[in-house]
Amino acid sequence: MEEAAKETQVTRIPRIGEPAPQFTAETTFGTLKLSDFKGSWLILFSHPADFTPVCTTEFIAFAKIHPQLKEMNCELMGLSIDSVYSHIAWVRNIEKNMRQKISFPVIADLNKEVAGLYGMLMPGESKTETSRCVFVIDDKQTLRAMIYYPLTTGRNMQEILRLIQALQTTDTHGVATPANWKPGQKVIVPPPKTQENADTRVAEKQYECKDWYFCRREL
Ligand code: BEZ
Repeated sequence: MEEAAKETQVTRIPRIGEPAPQFTAETTFGTLKLSDFKGSWLILFSHPADFTPVCTTEFIAFAKIHPQLKEMNCELMGLSIDSVYSHIAWVRNIEKNMRQKISFPVIADLNKEVAGLYGMLMPGESKTETSRCVFVIDDKQTLRAMIYYPLTTGRNMQEILRLIQALQTTDTHGVATPANWKPGQKVIVPPPKTQENADTRVAEKQYECKDWYFCRREL
């Protein structure tokens, strides 16, 4: 029973719309708490292991989009089940060999505490390496989105940027965003929830509607 409880803890997946699990962790920037990031958005991401090639390409790519994220009031923090010394050696190696400074902190989650809180371990794939997870946490520390990728597939930074832009657009304008949406394109007006609102939506001709439930507008 105790073992089963431990397993449940390790595989717990947090839920969108709920408060992001709080933690205090050792990082390459010293001890940091999730609450230190309150007031800005945060991308918390995990990688399988230091000194591995796909992870190296991702670290370089994350560092390259960091300035754009900062412009959107969004911070970045990495994590793996490696020591802080390993992280320091790896980021120094990336800077020396790939000429890319790693501008964000990286959690040394040796006891798998944060990995457990966020369900970053997929034991069917690896019991010792965190999967390629991305958690988008907003300025009020609500978990807003999650992406889970396997060990062998590097993530797409343009999609991560697009996701932050879409979420912030939703918050600012009360709209949704369609498939493949990019900033500057039309957005979706949330569908009416009553028959009366459906009638007025059609009658008012305020939006570009294909039908009562499918309306778009410019921002
Ligand atoms: C990599 O980062 O290259 C990698 C890590 C774990 C499994 C496969 C590839």
